[in-house]
Amino acid sequence: MRLVVTLRSRQAVGPRAQISRIKMLDVEVRELMQAFVLSDYQVQEVYSRFCAEIAKGLKRSTHVQANTKCFPTYVQDLPTGDEMGKYLALDLGGTNFRVLLVSLKGHHDATVESQIYAVPKDLMVGPGVELFDHIAECLARFVEKHDMRNSHLPLGFTFSFPCEQIGLKEAILVRWTKGFGCPGVEGEDVGRLLHEAIQRRGDVEIAVVAILNDTTGTLMSCAHRNADCRVGVIVGTGCNACYVEDVANVDLLHPDFKRTQRQVLVNAEWGAFGESGQLDFLRTEYDREVDDTSINKSEQLFEKMTSGMYLGRLVRLVLIRAIQRKVLFKLSNRREHFATAMQKNEDVFETRYISEIESDSFPEFPKTRSIITELFGLEKASVEDCQKIRYICECVSKRAATLVAIGVSGLINRISNRRIVVGMDGSVYRYHPKFDAYMRYTMHKLVKSDKEFDIMLSEDGSGRGAALVAAVASKTK
Ligand code: GLC
Repeated sequence: MRLVVTLRSRQAVGPRAQISRIKMLDVEVRELMQAFVLSDYQVQEVYSRFCAEIAKGLKRSTHVQANTKCFPTYVQDLPTGDEMGKYLALDLGGTNFRVLLVSLKGHHDATVESQIYAVPKDLMVGPGVELFDHIAECLARFVEKHDMRNSHLPLGFTFSFPCEQIGLKEAILVRWTKGFGCPGVEGEDVGRLLHEAIQRRGDVEIAVVAILNDTTGTLMSCAHRNADCRVGVIVGTGCNACYVEDVANVDLLHPDFKRTQRQVLVNAEWGAFGESGQLDFLRTEYDREVDDTSINKSEQLFEKMTSGMYLGRLVRLVLIRAIQRKVLFKLSNRREHFATAMQKNEDVFETRYISEIESDSFPEFPKTRSIITELFGLEKASVEDCQKIRYICECVSKRAATLVAIGVSGLINRISNRRIVVGMDGSVYRYHPKFDAYMRYTMHKLVKSDKEFDIMLSEDGSGRGAALVAAVASKTK
């Protein structure tokens, strides 16, 4: 079996490495960022609160009050690696929408052909019917292009929003997240909405056989490669995890559901953690502002501290404050102009800049300088300003990675296996130079000492994972 555990270079991320670099910085920027640096006590406290919330989500009697809904996915079988066949997959859940053709070839192997389609901003908040018509249209175009109009392939739909599943192919959208807000979809079965949109067109015949979350897809696609995978995590536009739970602990399974295995995959929906105030002792004024100006105020608070949709916004707010307090661009007489440039729009500081800045070389800072030029029109930023901006990014991303690691450790510690691999995906995890190392640092503190863990990068979880869910579902039948 091919082992694809990521062997990333272990970078120095502990307190000592941090301190030696920070010594070079002035005290003002350290003070400014103090609220983002989590103490061991805070880490432990979040860990306990997180574990309690997961337990609440799983139990029927406490489920309603729980933030982390722990929805059963109705997926019980992990892939064996010998799955075969061709499947269509749809992937909706971030800034793009994809249609995929996945060929499972046995021997842990698969090929994927895919096409990306943009989701226009107005469709993200326009009537739900229009969104599903757009999806069906892209699907029809894809099927036409691949000359598969009459091939009746089964389709797995990766729909990455909180859904209460009633079965494998019935999923009721509980709420929109990540900037989506189409009326007419919450409370509805998205499988039915997709089916109806396909029927309205009448030019393709496709059967939706499974609806899954992207975290489920990640877990399945990593388990296809590595039999020890028990947790799937996304740190991309949104942030969430799925894990393998003992059926005996899952109260919410439909009574008619045939329990074929002792385990079932559970979608934690941990992005909502903190909505009952559990994270208030950590949340900064910047977190509160990001939340206040979002379209889902008071919701998804853990996600707002950890995911790609919000990390850039957090850094932007800190930068504005740093400029106003003369922590940044101390000697410039254009500071007011710089602050105004940052106030232009909430997404002016893109999350990908954080990864670029943290991977930049000292003391030249070529990427940081070009970002500064793009944002502020400033040609020759000083080394000190570049260092400070990097430190600001580090504090925001390290806190995010620490929080994700707390959640992952909590899930690992629930699972009885001694060796556990965590499948990971999402743009923040994938492109950030140190997110993996930051996570491992905290996980080493929290994962029970009798366990061994590793992290692997998922390869196309949303596509391959959807095909695998469809495949194991038909096997079970
Ligand atoms: C949001 C969604 C969740 C998804 C995650 C990652 O948190 O609610 O369903 O898994 O984003 O895309």
